[in-house]
Amino acid sequence: MEIIRLYALLVRRPIESSRGAGVLSDSSMITFKLEDRVFILTGAGVSAESGIPTFRGAGGLWRNYRIEEVASPYAWRRDPRLVWEFYSMRRRVAGAAKPNPAHLALSDLEAQLGDRLFLCTQNVDNLHEQAGSKRIAHMHGELFKSRCDRCSSGPFPDAATYEPPAELPRCACGGIVRPHICWFGEMPYQMDEIFQALDRCTVFIAIGTSGAVEPAASFAARVTRRAKTIYVGPEEPANRGAFADWYLGPAGELLPELFQGAMT
Ligand code: OAD
Repeated sequence: MEIIRLYALLVRRPIESSRGAGVLSDSSMITFKLEDRVFILTGAGVSAESGIPTFRGAGGLWRNYRIEEVASPYAWRRDPRLVWEFYSMRRRVAGAAKPNPAHLALSDLEAQLGDRLFLCTQNVDNLHEQAGSKRIAHMHGELFKSRCDRCSSGPFPDAATYEPPAELPRCACGGIVRPHICWFGEMPYQMDEIFQALDRCTVFIAIGTSGAVEPAASFAARVTRRAKTIYVGPEEPANRGAFADWYLGPAGELLPELFQGAMT
């Protein structure tokens, strides 16, 4: 608790105007009105305190490959075994992870706001679900699901690992089973639903995302004229100019306090 109070003190200082629109918030709590509709976008930073490495920043590389080199249709065509090795490693890491206080604070918030909260995550782990969140738009897919790369049979639950010398998993149609992940160059999932929620929200909160990957990086700019835009994370995101308020610090430390007594 002492650490959280210290952060609350640290955040009470304005950002120099040359940096863009945002100011470090003056308050240690976020409150919502009854009529508010809240859109929350989470990124890899929300799972960092659960031991799942983020993509950018320290530890952002895997065996000297950039994420784009193992997470694209081109990478899949070139070397599906390498791609499965990467996602098998990610399944092992995510399979051992437990939700942290940030995931729990978001599930508590859903319990308070019900369907006035829209939770959209770029994360492919299942830590929001493990924490008890019920309605989650996984715009970049789900790590523990797979689907055929050829036919239209839908994604199915799959926690297996496929690493050499294991054979590549096959669909009954002869296609190769691939991770149910939105790769670079592919269309993110549930976008109609996501844009509808963005267009109705009155409060937009991005948590633990670098603001470097589209389309999520543009969500804040899309709503900033009519919704309050807030960022939570230890460092400024690339799209910082789209945020009105910022809370700088680790999500697992900040969110439980920020959402305490969220309803006014
Ligand atoms: P990034 O790895 O780009 O950014 C992670 C963000 O989390 C950074 O801004 C960090 O400052 C922040 N962060 C680190 N520790 C944190 C903590 N304890 N609490 C809060 N924030 C913290 O991750 P994303 O923005 O999620 O896509 O990346 C977006 C997409 O790029 C991913 O979904 C993935 C990747 O390529 C695909 O795989 C399709």
